[in-house]
Amino acid sequence: MKTAGQIRQMKGQAKVAMLTVYDYPTACILDRCDLDILFVGDTLGQVELGFKRTSAVTIEMMLHHLGAVRRGVGETHLLADMPYQSYAKPQRALQNARKLLDAGADSVKLEGAHDKIVAHLVDRGIDVVGHVGLLPQTARRYVRQGTKEKSAERILKQAVRLAQAGCYAVVLEHMPSKLAREITEAVLVPTIGIGAGPDCDGQVLVVNDMLGLFEHAPYYVKRYANLFETILKAGEVFGQDVKSGSYPSEEFYDRVIKRRG
Ligand code: KIV
Repeated sequence: MKTAGQIRQMKGQAKVAMLTVYDYPTACILDRCDLDILFVGDTLGQVELGFKRTSAVTIEMMLHHLGAVRRGVGETHLLADMPYQSYAKPQRALQNARKLLDAGADSVKLEGAHDKIVAHLVDRGIDVVGHVGLLPQTARRYVRQGTKEKSAERILKQAVRLAQAGCYAVVLEHMPSKLAREITEAVLVPTIGIGAGPDCDGQVLVVNDMLGLFEHAPYYVKRYANLFETILKAGEVFGQDVKSGSYPSEEFYDRVIKRRG
């Protein structure tokens, strides 16, 4: 497993590959994939629990899913999201970050220009990832950020301050690739992009999107599988088999398992 320090040192040396994960079986599989970071993101709320917004996610929900993921992950750095409002004040941030670490996270991520909170956590030995650009916990609309000069400048400054405050990496979400490139050149820690073009130091995707679990995904997602089709077909065929009586056929019942020896 890579430590936060080792991931930080990947800057300029190797790309950082990160995927979200929310449950035990997926964690068991992804832990074998030689990824650098597995991430229990608060997208949990949308892609696993069916909420409209990530702000519906509570620390209890995060702890529940993080525990399941931890039981499946042994080889990969495990990052956990701090949910909406859980890091609004330094003391609350520290308490909640410690809860996530106690539940098995190796480090935590928070959204937005909270460099003072980051410094508070880092000073107390907690490894933190920052996140700028589109901030789903508070965004009114899920649109590309930093498309105008002023907002691009603001986002760049936020990323620089987060890195200076001690973040070991910064996620850049949904912004023009030119801005992501400028941020990547300006900070000394890896940038991990999602919808931020090819010049980041690494890339992250929501696993449900890249596995094609939904009919639709954001334009920047490459679908590495089509689980929507696979599950749909499997469910339909199972239903037909049960109704026609073709399942279970003989091979699936009354099998005598012979003991060895
Ligand atoms: O919660 C999440 O999945 C995220 C990714 C979009 C990076 O923050």
